Amino acid sequence: MTEVAITLLTGQQMPAVGLGTWRSDPGQVKQAVLTALDCGYRHIDCAAAYGNEREVGEALTERVGPGKPLRREDVFVTSKLWNTKHHPDDVEDACKKSLSDLGLSYLDLYLMHWPMAFQRGDELMPKRPDGTIYYDDTHYRDTWAAMEKLVDQGLVKAIGLSNFNARQIDDVLSIAKHKPVLNQVECHPYLIQTQLISHCWSRGLAVTAYSPLGSPDRPWYTPGEPCLLDDPRVVDMAKHYKKTSAQVIIRWHVQRGVVCIPKSINPSRIKQNIEVFDFKLSDEDMRLIESFNKNKRLIIPTIEKNGKVWRDANHPHFPFHDPY
Ligand code: A2P
Repeated sequence: MTEVAITLLTGQQMPAVGLGTWRSDPGQVKQAVLTALDCGYRHIDCAAAYGNEREVGEALTERVGPGKPLRREDVFVTSKLWNTKHHPDDVEDACKKSLSDLGLSYLDLYLMHWPMAFQRGDELMPKRPDGTIYYDDTHYRDTWAAMEKLVDQGLVKAIGLSNFNARQIDDVLSIAKHKPVLNQVECHPYLIQTQLISHCWSRGLAVTAYSPLGSPDRPWYTPGEPCLLDDPRVVDMAKHYKKTSAQVIIRWHVQRGVVCIPKSINPSRIKQNIEVFDFKLSDEDMRLIESFNKNKRLIIPTIEKNGKVWRDANHPHFPFHDPY
C-alpha cells in the first residue's frame, strides 16, 4: 500500500489521507495518533480549537524525531489559528502555543480556521450578554499579513485558509506576499463542492475535505437524518469493491485529487481508512457518487439562545452567504 501525496505550491508533498482530530477526546487522541503513525499515516490534522494538541504532541514526541521511528520531515502536520487570535499582535503567540503543545519546532501548514474574527482573549467562544458571539472587527487580510511573517520566521512551511469562500480567497490572493497553498472545507458526497474546488485549483490552491465521511458523530445529528455511511447506494458499492463504505468514500476523495482527513479514535477504523490505495473506483462510480450531492452543509457555526440553536451568520465575513 503506497500513500499518495499531492504537491503544494511550495513544492511540499502533502499525503492525501490524514488523521482528523476534531472531536477526538484528549484522553483518546494520543492513542489514535500513535495507531495512525504506526499503520502508515504521515499526515495529522490538528487545530488549537480542538483542545487536544498537547495530547497529539505527546504521541508525536514518542514517534517522531532523532532516535525515534520517524523523522520530522516524514510527517506532515497541520494546525489552525483560532478566531480569537486573528489580531495581528496575537498571531505569532498563537502559533508558538500550538508548536509548543505539539512539541514541534515548525508546522508544515498553518491555516486560518475561519474568516471571522472573535473578541481577543482565551475564551474559545466569547459571547455577549445576550448569548451571541462577541465578534472582533479584525479583517482576515490583516490576519493573513501576520501569518505571512510566520513563514518568514521559519515557524511554518506554508500557510493556508479554511472555510473561505471563492470571493474571500481572491481577496486574500490580491494582497498575498505568500500565497495560500490550500483551503480546507467541508466536503463529502452530500456536499461535493465542485465549484469551490475548481475555483481553488484554478488559483493553485489545493483542497482538503473535512468531515469527509459526513461527520456521523456531529453533536447536532438528529436520528432519522440520512447517514452517508449507511446510504444503500454506498453500501452496495462497498460490497462490489469488497471494501467498507468509509473506504469507498475516502477513495472517492483521493481519486478526485482532494486531500481528506477522516477522524477516528478506533484502531481498526483508523487502519481501515488508509487502506484505500489498493483499489480504484470506475469512472462511472465516481460520477454516481457525485450524483448523491444535495448541497447539504452539516457544519455551520451555530449558537444556543433561549434554549434553541440559531445559525450565527451575522458577521460581515461569514463565508456561507455566497453561493460558493
Ligand atoms: P470513530 O472515531 O468511533 O471511528 P468525519 O471524519 O466525516 O467527521 O467522520 C468521523 C466519524 O466517522 C466518527 O464518528 C468516526 O467514529 C466515524 N468513522 C471513522 N471512520 C469510520 C469507518 N471506517 N467506519 C465507520 N465509521 C467511521
